[in-house]
Amino acid sequence: MRSMSDDHTHVQEFFTVRAADWDARFPDDGPAYAAAVTDLGLRPGDHVLDAGCGTGRALTPLRTAVGPSGVVLGADLTPAMLEAAVQAGRHLDGQLLLADVAALPLRTESLDAVFAAGLIAHLADPAGNLRELARVVRPGGTLALFHPIGRAALAARQGRQITPADLRAEANLGPLLAGSGWRMTSYVDEDSRFLALAVRTD
Ligand SMILES: C[S@@+](CC[C@H](N)C(=O)[O-])C[C@H]1O[C@@H](n2cnc3c(N)ncnc32)[C@H](O)[C@@H]1O
Repeated sequence: MRSMSDDHTHVQEFFTVRAADWDARFPDDGPAYAAAVTDLGLRPGDHVLDAGCGTGRALTPLRTAVGPSGVVLGADLTPAMLEAAVQAGRHLDGQLLLADVAALPLRTESLDAVFAAGLIAHLADPAGNLRELARVVRPGGTLALFHPIGRAALAARQGRQITPADLRAEANLGPLLAGSGWRMTSYVDEDSRFLALAVRTD
């Protein structure tokens, strides 16, 4: 039987070998990240977490959105990805945390929003982890689940088919979010991007 720590080891091994050239593999994604951050609707002074921040590709647009008075945090459980974020200077835009989204070292309702790019498919316990993200966000706060490529295009790139059980299918994601403290407010799945937005329920 696989344990939670086996899943974490697998995630860390997978991303550790990819960390050094992660950004170089996807050199043209910057504008898509900036657009997704804009859609999250942050305001100056907001507190936002980039969950599964990796090399921190979203940290600069998040800092731009919340301004110098805001708080930007980036959490990831793979040290090599955070080291690559530092190499790229992204720690200047947000505070990096070596942390698992299953148990965040953050106070309840201390954030206005969470941005999570490419994270949800890697989670061992999506419902539990989304509940933990809801815990740290105030009621009315927002969540963006983003990927800079749509589900069909990603599946084609990886040489696989999308199955009806796919977690990110609209029919699955809405109920998953609803059961985890979120209400999905919009859903876009086109070749150039995947973006689901949700609001933290009371
Ligand atoms: C596909 S990468 C995306 C990285 C970054 N968000 C981006 O868009 O470039 C997924 C990231 O999620 C991290 N991750 C996976 N499971 C996690 C968890 N339970 N807690 C924190 N980070 C996690 C991985 O270490 C990896 O850096």
